[in-house]
Amino acid sequence: MDRIRIAGGRRLNGSIPISGAKNATLPLMIASLLTEETLVLENVPRLADVGLLQRILGNHGVDVMIGGKRPGETSYDGQTLHICAANIIDTTAPYELVSRMRASFWVIAPLLARMGEARVSMPGGCAIGTRPVDLLIMALERLGAAIEIDGGYVVARAGRGLKGGEIKFPKVTVGGTHTAIMAASLANGTTVIENAAREPEIKDVADCLNKMGAKIAGAGTSRIVIEGVARLGGARHRVIPDRIETGTYAMAVAMTGGDVVLENAQPELLQAALDVLIRAGVEVTPTNAGIRIARDGSGLAPVDVTTQPFPGFPTDLQAQLMALMTRGRGISHITETIFENRFMHVQELARLGARIALSGERATIEGVDRLKGAPVMATDLRASVSLVIAALAAEGETMVNRVYHLDRGFERLEDKLAGCGAAIERISA
Ligand code: EPU
Repeated sequence: MDRIRIAGGRRLNGSIPISGAKNATLPLMIASLLTEETLVLENVPRLADVGLLQRILGNHGVDVMIGGKRPGETSYDGQTLHICAANIIDTTAPYELVSRMRASFWVIAPLLARMGEARVSMPGGCAIGTRPVDLLIMALERLGAAIEIDGGYVVARAGRGLKGGEIKFPKVTVGGTHTAIMAASLANGTTVIENAAREPEIKDVADCLNKMGAKIAGAGTSRIVIEGVARLGGARHRVIPDRIETGTYAMAVAMTGGDVVLENAQPELLQAALDVLIRAGVEVTPTNAGIRIARDGSGLAPVDVTTQPFPGFPTDLQAQLMALMTRGRGISHITETIFENRFMHVQELARLGARIALSGERATIEGVDRLKGAPVMATDLRASVSLVIAALAAEGETMVNRVYHLDRGFERLEDKLAGCGAAIERISA
C-alpha cells in the first residue's frame, strides 16, 4: 500500500488547479443508464472512485471510453468520458461492488426507470456512520415501485413503468434527491420533491439531465418539479469544479501560511466555508482565475461551526477545519449534524499533538502552539486529508498510511501540494 511522507513547516505559494467534482461526476456517470445514446462528460477527475464506478457500470453492460489527451492539454486537465448504455445486459448490482462505494447504490433509480426492475445490494456499514437507504426506497415507492428486500438486496419493480408522485423528504438527503430526480425523469406524469437537497452537485446533474431532454425545474432549491418524459437522449456536459477539494486546499494554505490561487474554483460553491476562513483571519479574494487564499504570519482566530446541508458549512470539510483549528489561538467548537460518527480523525490528530475533546456530536478543539510529526492513518477520505493538512504544519516528519483513501477523492494531491512548495512525496509500496 502506498504511503505519503510529509515534512512540515513550509509555506505554500503558487497555484493549484481544482479538478472536476467527484460528487457530481459519480451521479452523472450513473445518469448515463437512463439513455441508450452516448453521454459525454468533460472535466472528469482521475480518481479511484471514478474507475470503480466505471467497473460497476461495465457490469450492467455500459461502455465507457476515455478520450485521449489533446495537444496543449496539461496533465491536470480533466478527462473526457464517452459513456454509452445502449444495451443493459444485467440489472443486478452485486454486493462485491456496491459495498466498496456507497454511491453505486444510486444505479437502482435509472435501472428501475428504464428497465422496469433493479436488484441492488444494500450498501452496508460505512466508516462515517450507519448511512441507511430508507429514504431512497421511500422515494422510489412514492413513484409506484414495488420494493422488497431479498438476501441483502433491494429488489425494485415497476412492470408498467414509474408514475409521477409527491416525495417529501423528512430529512435532507443528497443521495435521496439524486435518486428521486433520476427516477422521476422517466416516470409517467409530474413529480414534486419537497425538502430536496440544494447541493450544487444536484443542480449540475439536473442541468445535464435537462440537456438530455428531461424536464426538471427548481434544482438547487428545496422544491423540485419534474415532468416525466418517455425517453432521454445523449448530451455533452462539463462537470463543475470540486468545492470540497477547493475548501481543502484553502485550509491547507490557511494552515501553513502563504499565498495560493485555486484555479477554476468558484466561490459561490463554498461561500459558507470561505466565510469561516475569513472569520479565522484568512484572506480570501475571488479573482478571474479562481480564488486567492493568503495568510501572513498572524495567528488563526478560533471559530464555532456547525455542519449543515448546503448552503451551510459542509460535513465533507469538517475534518479539514478541525485540523486547521488545532493551531487556532484559543478554543474552537465544531458540531457535526450530518453523520453521527464522523470523528475518526480526532484520535489520529491527537497523535500529532492536537487537543480535542468529544462530547456527542460536538468537538472542542484547544489550539496548540505546535504539532509534531508522527505515523498516522485514517479510515475515510476526508479524515485522511485532514491529517495531511495537520502534517503540513507539524514539526518533523509525518507518514500518512492507507493512501488509497486519498486516491478515492483527491487527484494527484502530492503533486498539487509539492507544486506550491510543500515537502511531500508518495512512497509506492
Ligand atoms: N440518510 C438516511 N436515510 C437515507 C439516506 C440518508 O437516514 O435513506 C441520512 C444519512 O445517514 C445522513 C444524512 O441522511 O445522516 C445525509 O445523507 P445523504 O444522503 O445526504 O448523504 P449521501 O448522499 O450518502 C453525499 C456525498 C457525501 C456527503 C453527503 C452529505 C456523494 C457521492 N456523497 O452522500 O460525500 O458527505 O452527501 O453532504 O455525493 C465524501 O465525498 O467524502 C462524502 C462522504
